[in-house]
Amino acid sequence: MKSLTANELRKLYIDFFVSKGHRQISGASLIPENDPTVLFTTAGMHPLVPYILGAEHPAGKKLVDYQKCIRTGDIDSVGDPHHLTFFEMLGNWSLGAYFKKEAIEYSYEFLTQCLGIDPAKLSVTVFAGDENAPRDDEAANVWRSLGISEDRIHFMPKEDNWWGPAGETGPCGPDSEMFIDTGRPACGPDCRPGCSCGKYFEIWNDVFMGYRKDEKGEYKEMERKCIDTGMGIERTIAILQGKKSVYETEVFTPIIAKVEELCGRKYGEAEDDDVSIRIISDHIRTSVFILGDQRGMAPSNVGQGYILRRLIRRAVRHGKKLGIDHAFLSDIATVVLSLYQDAYPELKERQDFIFDELKKEEAKFSETLVKGEREFEKMLPNLMKGNSRQISGRLAFKLYDTYGFPIELTVELAKEHGFTVDEKGFQEAFQKHQEISRAGAEQQFKGGLADHSEATTALHTATHLLHKALSVVMGGYVKQLGSNITAERLRFDFNCPRAMTKEEIKAVEDLVNEQIQKDLPVTIEVMSPEEAKAQGAAAQFDAKYGEQVKVYSIGDFSKEVCGGPHVEHTGTMGHFRIVKEQSSSAGVRRIKAVLEK
Ligand code: SER
Repeated sequence: MKSLTANELRKLYIDFFVSKGHRQISGASLIPENDPTVLFTTAGMHPLVPYILGAEHPAGKKLVDYQKCIRTGDIDSVGDPHHLTFFEMLGNWSLGAYFKKEAIEYSYEFLTQCLGIDPAKLSVTVFAGDENAPRDDEAANVWRSLGISEDRIHFMPKEDNWWGPAGETGPCGPDSEMFIDTGRPACGPDCRPGCSCGKYFEIWNDVFMGYRKDEKGEYKEMERKCIDTGMGIERTIAILQGKKSVYETEVFTPIIAKVEELCGRKYGEAEDDDVSIRIISDHIRTSVFILGDQRGMAPSNVGQGYILRRLIRRAVRHGKKLGIDHAFLSDIATVVLSLYQDAYPELKERQDFIFDELKKEEAKFSETLVKGEREFEKMLPNLMKGNSRQISGRLAFKLYDTYGFPIELTVELAKEHGFTVDEKGFQEAFQKHQEISRAGAEQQFKGGLADHSEATTALHTATHLLHKALSVVMGGYVKQLGSNITAERLRFDFNCPRAMTKEEIKAVEDLVNEQIQKDLPVTIEVMSPEEAKAQGAAAQFDAKYGEQVKVYSIGDFSKEVCGGPHVEHTGTMGHFRIVKEQSSSAGVRRIKAVLEK
C-alpha cells in the first residue's frame, strides 16, 4: 500500500477519473440548497441529487470531485479515536453513462494499481436482495471476473448494502462496499466485512442508483440508472499510512500540536485529556468549515447555526477542562485554515468572518460557562450528600433558565462527577415554564388576540392534519407559508404552482376526517430543533425558536414543531370541511376550512 497524504490522495483520485473521461466539478456548499430535510451536505452525491434524478449536468455524464461533508448524527460520539463531524469525500459519478461493470472495474483498478492494495486483501459486499430489489448477482459476477474469490464476496441485507436516500426521499439503490482485511484474527464465526471488531476496514462504496424512494416510502425503479461512489479521505489515508486513528494523520496532528501547546499537556498520555483534545480538534475544524462555507453562517439558536453554536461551546468547555484559561479558538482556526485553504479557497476569502464569529461566541459562552459552572459546583456538595446520583430536572432547568447553561452540558458535567440528569424532568420543567410564559402573554393580550378557546384549539390541531394531508395528496414539497386561526375557521397558505382539483380537495378532506375518526392521541415532546428535524418533524425552520422546541405528534400521522395549543384526542374535533381554495399570491394557495359539529 502506498502511504499517501490527504492532498496526494485527492489529486491521485481526481487524476485517475479524469484519465477515464470524467470531468472534475467543484464541490458544493455544506448547506444544501434544495433539500430542506437535512441541515448539511452529508455525502458527495447530495448536491448531485437533481442530476441523478434526470436533470442534465452542464459538465456532462461522467463526473468526479471532492466534497466537504458534515454528519451531525453522532456529535456526542466525537471524542473517541474514530468519530468525526466533518470529513471529505471523494466521488465519481455516472449519470446514465456507465453502470455496475465499469464502476466496479474502475474501483478495482484504482485500489490495486493506484493505491497499491494487495488484491488478496480485498473483501467486498453486495446486496442480498429483498422485496424491493433483486439479489445483486450482476455486481458479484463483475467482482468474480476480476479475481475476487467466492469467500471474499459477501451478500448482505438492506441494512448493510443499500445506500440512500440522503434525505427522506430521493435516489437510492443497492451498493457494493470494499474492505481491506487488516489481517487481524476474526472475532468469531460471524465476523464479516462491516463487523465492528476492526478486522475489516471499509474503504469505498459503489452505489448503483437505480431506485427512487418517494414520499410514501415506496421504492420506484428509475429509468436512467446512475453510479455514485464515495471514499472518505480521512479514513482512507489513516489505513494507507498504517495509523490506528484519523487523529494520528497529518490532517489532525498540526491541530492537536496547537492544542498541546495551548494547554501544556501531551496527546496520548491520559485518556481524559485525549478525549478533550479530540473534541476540540474535531469541533473547531468543523466550525471553521461552517463559518467559512460559501453559504456560511453565524452561530444562532436555529438550524445549522444551532449546531455550530453547540460545536463551538463544547470545544470551549473542553478547552477550559484542559486548563486553557484564555480565548484560544482563533489560534486553532489559524491552523485549520493553513491546512485547508488551498483545497477550499472560500475559507481564506471568509477568514475575517470566521475569526470574528469565533471570538464573539467564545466570549459570550465563556461568561455563561463561568456562571453556570460556579452554580453547579455550589450545588455539588449538597448533591453528594444525597443518596441519589441523579440531578433533578428542576435543578437542570434552573441552570438553563438562569444561566443559559445548555442541558447537554449539564448532562456532560454531571457525568464527569458520576451523576445522571433527569432529562425528562428537565423537559417537564421547561414545558411548565412555557405554559407560564404563555399565560403571561395571554394576560398581556387580553381582549382575545391569544384566543385559546376550545374552538381555536381544535382548529390548531386541524391545521396540522391539513398540512400533513396536503403533503400526502399534493406532494412532499408542500410547506406551510402562513396560518391564521379565528374561533370560526382556519386559514392556511402553502406553496403550490396551480389550483387544486375538486378530487384533490376531497382527498385532503377525507384524509383529515379519517384521522379525526380514528381518535388519535395528540402527544407532545420537548427537544432541540435539530432532534426535531432528525425525527422528520415539519417546521418552519427559519422561524426563530428557543434552544428547545415542542413537537406535537398526532398518532403516527403527523409530527410538527409548534407552540400549541392542541386537543388531546382528535375524536372530539368534529367534521373537517374545506370551504375555499384560492390563489393568495404567485405560487401560493390559500385554504379556508372549518370544523363542523
Ligand atoms: N453516497 C454513498 C456514501 O455516502 C457513496 O458516495 O457512502
